[in-house]
Amino acid sequence: MEITPIPGAPLGAVVHGAELSGDLDDTSLARILDAVDQHLVLVFRGHRDPTDEQLLAFGRRFGHIPKTGLTTGANPVHNEILIISNILVDGKKIGIGDAAWMDWHTDYSFRPRVSQLGVLAAVELPPSGGGQTLFTDMYAAYDSLPGELRARLHTYRARHALRSGYEDTIEEEYQGEVTIGATAAIQPEDGTATVHPVIARNPRTGRHSVYVNPLNTKRILELDPAASKELLQRLWAFPGTPELTYRHTWEPGDIVLWDQLGTLHAKTAFDPDERRMLRKVVAIFDDPVEPWRAWQAEATT
Ligand SMILES: [Fe+2]
Repeated sequence: MEITPIPGAPLGAVVHGAELSGDLDDTSLARILDAVDQHLVLVFRGHRDPTDEQLLAFGRRFGHIPKTGLTTGANPVHNEILIISNILVDGKKIGIGDAAWMDWHTDYSFRPRVSQLGVLAAVELPPSGGGQTLFTDMYAAYDSLPGELRARLHTYRARHALRSGYEDTIEEEYQGEVTIGATAAIQPEDGTATVHPVIARNPRTGRHSVYVNPLNTKRILELDPAASKELLQRLWAFPGTPELTYRHTWEPGDIVLWDQLGTLHAKTAFDPDERRMLRKVVAIFDDPVEPWRAWQAEATT
């Protein structure tokens, strides 16, 4: 296994010759985790393409893989594997997503049990590579903030929701909300709306990230709607800035593994006549409070 930083990119590394099946040994697993902590996005090339079962087993080496809960758009045998595609078969979509721009987000921020790592595997790509996947380093975004603002952000919580349109409402705001602490046993798939601290902390590295995103973060609870909107807009200036962003152009066989706590991702638009298909699994934190533990400690001191 050979790990090479991507030239000219502020984050990201290419990993050659990894074993991407469930047979990943502990030493290789530790090396991959070290590499993802250092580079945040790993692009695997020069490996044997894993079967669906192997991809799932590989993902499970990093944490629990929740079911997608989708009746269409997921692998028919393994519901944990999401199919991302604009391809139609007999007029019906085979996956989720389309050729349009997909705004910045991190997967499952709207659930109490958030994602730790994502794995995207190319299945079918047009010659152009189709839409690029963009990744912005939100640890570096945190590090670049003035100290006073950083301290303030540590005291704030934000509401995340899968659906839009509830930003300024009170009653409907909490519909479907499940929060850590509200229930003894939070299932991996629970919740389409929740509340998280604005600052997350990577339990392995101790690095803090700005954990808000334009797609699913609706409101900072401690601020009135106007002030919340203003601050969120300021924080959303980070995703896409060239000095914090890696733009991944897909090549056949690519498998991308990334840190979901410390990066946001987006997808650029592509020609809808092009066919694009990827497989995806998401590993969540086994311990749901892991990414928020430091915040709790700081908030009580
Ligand atoms: Fe995503």
